[in-house]
Amino acid sequence: MTSGSDAPTLRIAPSILASDFARLGEEVRAVEAAGADWIHIDVMDGHFVPNLTLGPPIVESVRRSTSLPLDVHLMIESPETSIADYVGAGADTVGVHAETCPHLHRTLAQIHELGARACAVINPATPVQTLEPVLGDLDQVLVMTVNPGFGGQKFIASAMSKVRQLREWTLERGLSVDIEVDGGVTASTIGVASEAGANVFVAGTAIFGEADYKGAIESLRSCAEAARS
Ligand code: DX5
Ligand code: ZN
Repeated sequence: MTSGSDAPTLRIAPSILASDFARLGEEVRAVEAAGADWIHIDVMDGHFVPNLTLGPPIVESVRRSTSLPLDVHLMIESPETSIADYVGAGADTVGVHAETCPHLHRTLAQIHELGARACAVINPATPVQTLEPVLGDLDQVLVMTVNPGFGGQKFIASAMSKVRQLREWTLERGLSVDIEVDGGVTASTIGVASEAGANVFVAGTAIFGEADYKGAIESLRSCAEAARS
């Protein structure tokens, strides 16, 4: 558990996957006005994950709709071939799946060379030890709490032991690494993730599925805050 001034900044990142894509700019502006900290953008290629979503032109459109940092989650094979396009489109953080990167260290360095924050992502079945050798080479880790591909799935609580281990490693080594969780994050599940040591929370359905975005973000934030103090 983290507390006091050393606690990493808590951030709520609405995932636009659950928004109305026909009104994307409006939806992004609405969550910004409702208190979102970051905008989470899910890029899916129909190969690494079964679903197909969006590419750099849409990231660029979102970039023009908000001044919030864009957290781009690449669920695509061979991400190294298109990272430059996503950074060029305005991504502030680029997340690549360890499962798609045989040369993860090199890919994280590539993201940094392009001027973005580097995030490594692991699926529920991927051991946390995969990230241990590169912890000092990244800004953020994303522990998936569902199998990626779709919104609205059930939170996988067994991923919390990975969050706990990552927070322990970063504290021991004095590293400033954001720990993010994504998938099935709701007011009922965010507390356990926050207690385990996560500080960035992606939520799609729990925000865009509600009529009151401000109320939904406030409720997530207060549940996360209550669990860390
Ligand atoms: C899943 C995506 C998530 C998704 C989360 O593959 O990475 O970002 O949008 O959606 P919810 O919050 O509805 O589980
Ligand atoms: Zn995501």
